[in-house]
Amino acid sequence: MKSPNQEVLKLGTKSDAVRTKLINRTAKCEALSKRGQAALAQEVVQTVDLPHPIYIDSAEGPYLTDLDGNKYIDLTGGFGPNVLGNKPKPIEDALSSQIKKGWHYGIPGSGQAHLAELIKESSPSVDEVMFCNSGSEATMFAFRAARAVTGKKVVALFDGSYHGIHDYALLRADSKSERSTPTSLTLGSGIPNEVSQNLMMMLPYRDKNAYELIRKYKNDLAMVVIEPVQSSNPRLDSKEFLEGLRDVCTECEVLLMFDEVITGFRIEYGGCQEYYKIEPDVITYGKAVGGGMPIGVVAGPKKIMNSFSGAEDTPAIFAGGTFSGNPLTMAGGIGALEYLKENKEHIYPYLHEQGDRLAKEINEFCSISKIPAKLMNAGSMMHLIFGDNDIKSSRDIERRHYHLENEFYLHLLGHNVIVPGIHLAFLSYAHTPEIVDQVISAFKNTFEDLRSDGYM
Ligand SMILES: Cc1ncc(COP(=O)(O)O)c(C=O)c1O
Repeated sequence: MKSPNQEVLKLGTKSDAVRTKLINRTAKCEALSKRGQAALAQEVVQTVDLPHPIYIDSAEGPYLTDLDGNKYIDLTGGFGPNVLGNKPKPIEDALSSQIKKGWHYGIPGSGQAHLAELIKESSPSVDEVMFCNSGSEATMFAFRAARAVTGKKVVALFDGSYHGIHDYALLRADSKSERSTPTSLTLGSGIPNEVSQNLMMMLPYRDKNAYELIRKYKNDLAMVVIEPVQSSNPRLDSKEFLEGLRDVCTECEVLLMFDEVITGFRIEYGGCQEYYKIEPDVITYGKAVGGGMPIGVVAGPKKIMNSFSGAEDTPAIFAGGTFSGNPLTMAGGIGALEYLKENKEHIYPYLHEQGDRLAKEINEFCSISKIPAKLMNAGSMMHLIFGDNDIKSSRDIERRHYHLENEFYLHLLGHNVIVPGIHLAFLSYAHTPEIVDQVISAFKNTFEDLRSDGYM
């Protein structure tokens, strides 16, 4: 495979043509991008580089429409929350009726208890929940609660994981460290090295040496935190590893947290806990639980959740937030979860069926056409990975293919299918089988474009 650079890209007729097409049809987006550059330090949430970003004007079902009126099949899923697609009627109705009654009171509205009951009902591991505004806030509070309850200071994360944007979450494995004994580095400037050296620890993902490391450091370890599906390499074949992890955490009296921010109410109604039938000690949710409104949730048994109230002599942590549990988010969450609960017998099998079908068709196509790429999926959550090697964990993903990936998504946009800059794609319940067929064709056409320009 060629690794495209600007010079090589100029030689590709298809690459030239798609850039011209995209630029010509997005003049309003280009103007807005220039305006944004003058006032925004960072424009959060990106698409592929066009060279300018596109901006969305409206969203409906499986589609997004940009400022210039171009309509795309949406595989962004709003970065995960939109399990029912864009603007689903039950959530729209719930939000509209709350807006008529006001949307921010400072004093609790009636929604917190209702949404808490729905979450509690979905999982045998949950006695109580606490609401905040994002998945990052949820993991931050959960780490704090674990340290308070156990009196131990180290929290362990896995190589290849993502748990949000606070200082205790922004770690990456040092690629020079051994795969089975990874050490971590802080991500980006501004986070003291002491965080990775003294307060956090990194474990190897889907590698049983993680169990030995937990045994070795159990006296310092407050909690082991895992995404039961890592978005960098989504898959559903980790049951044995997760069961072993549950056992070793119990044996070592170390808390086990499932970060279900992305998988909760997406993989199954009861998240990966239901899929794998494993009961963690702490769970974080976000994304889908708010029906598209900003939300984070810490949930678990009373022995952990007591740290929010200080009940039963548990050391109390400080938690709160101006917008935590706000009425509009609660209404969006109730609208989403009521509908998902009522229709879960149809929704979750459908999402698995369509996600598996899409992956199977693309993977068969790649194998027959000798294209070195693989679509990994956990139900409706997907990541296309370039390269020939077997992907046991994110360590096997080769960074050198990143430019090729970008080129792939640029061409895919030209075929009117949009995947966000993080390259993680989602199907929703609004994606009918016909739309999934269109996505399959767009993927195949995109591979053909790249091949015809000589990239693979
Ligand atoms: C597993 C996981 N945890 C935490 C987060 C952070 O959530 P948020 O972006 O809402 O802060 C994410 C976001 O993608 C996530 O996937």
